[in-house]
Amino acid sequence: MAGFMSLEGRYAVVTGGRRGIGLAIVELLARLGAEVMLGDRTIEESSKVAEMVAEDCRCRVQARQVDVSNFQSANALIEAALAEFGRVDILVNNAGVTRDALILRMNEEDWDYVIDINLKGTWNCCKAVVRPMMKQRYGRIINISSVSGLAGQAGQTNYSASKAGIIGLTKALAREVASRGITVNAIAPGFVPTALTNNLPQELKDAMMKLIPMGRWGEPAEIANAVAFLASSEAAYITGQVLSVDGGMMMM
Ligand SMILES: NC(=O)c1ccc[n+]([C@@H]2O[C@H](COP(=O)([O-])OP(=O)(O)OC[C@H]3O[C@@H](n4cnc5c(N)ncnc54)[C@H](O)[C@@H]3O)[C@@H](O)[C@H]2O)c1
Repeated sequence: MAGFMSLEGRYAVVTGGRRGIGLAIVELLARLGAEVMLGDRTIEESSKVAEMVAEDCRCRVQARQVDVSNFQSANALIEAALAEFGRVDILVNNAGVTRDALILRMNEEDWDYVIDINLKGTWNCCKAVVRPMMKQRYGRIINISSVSGLAGQAGQTNYSASKAGIIGLTKALAREVASRGITVNAIAPGFVPTALTNNLPQELKDAMMKLIPMGRWGEPAEIANAVAFLASSEAAYITGQVLSVDGGMMMM
C-alpha cells in the first residue's frame, strides 16, 4: 500500500516554482512521488532548477515558461502538462508578485500588474485545468493566498485585494466542482523570508515579528508541507478552506 500522503502516480503543475515557496513545493511533491511540471517566467533558470531537483530526489521534474497573467500562456502550460502526462491531478497556483506603495503613491499600473498576475493568473490556470479534472473526476487545486488577504496590509492595497480575491475564487470554485472529486483550497502563509520579502523595510519586519505568537518567520518547507497535505488523497473531504500557516499570526 502506498504510504501516508504518497503522491505516487500523481501529476502536478506548480506555478512560480523556480525559487522560494514554489521551489519548496516542487521539491516536496516530487519527493512524495508526483511528476511535476513547474511553470515560471524564465525558462533557463527554471530548467536548471528542475534538473537539479530531479537529480537530487531521483524524480521527474520538468520546466516550462509561462506568464500566468496571460490567458493563452496559462492555457499552454496546462496543455503542455496534459500532453506530457495525460492528466493533471494537482494544480498549485503559487506564482505571485508585490508592488507595494501607499495608495496615494500607487499608480494604476502597479494595481493592474499585481492583480493580473496574482488573481487573474490564478483564475487563468484554474480555468484551463478544471475541464480535464472534471473529466477524470479527480483534482486538487491549491491556491497560495496570504495573511495580507485576510487582514489587509498597509502599502499593499493591490496585493491584499489580489490575495483576498483568491480566497473568494477558491470558495466559489470549490462549490462548483465539489461533486466531481475536485477539491479547491487556499493557503495563507504568514511571513516567509524569500526574494519577495527580502526588501521589506526592517521596521515593518520588526513590527510583524511582534504579531507572531511563535516569534519566528516561517520556512518555505513549512508552507510546502501544508500544500502536500491538501494535495494528497488524505485531504479528500476538505474543500473551500483557507489554511493559515503563519505561526499563529491570524487566529479566526
Ligand atoms: N514570502 C512570503 O512571506 C509570502 C507570504 C504570503 C504569501 N506568499 C505568496 O507565496 C507565493 C510565492 O512567493 P515567494 O515568497 O516564494 O516569492 P518569490 O518571488 O520567491 O517567488 C515567486 C515566483 O513566481 C514567479 N512569477 C512571478 N510572476 C509570474 C508570472 N507572471 N508567471 C509565472 N511565474 C511568475 C517568479 O518568477 C518567482 O519564481 C506568492 O504567491 C506569494 O504572494 C509569500
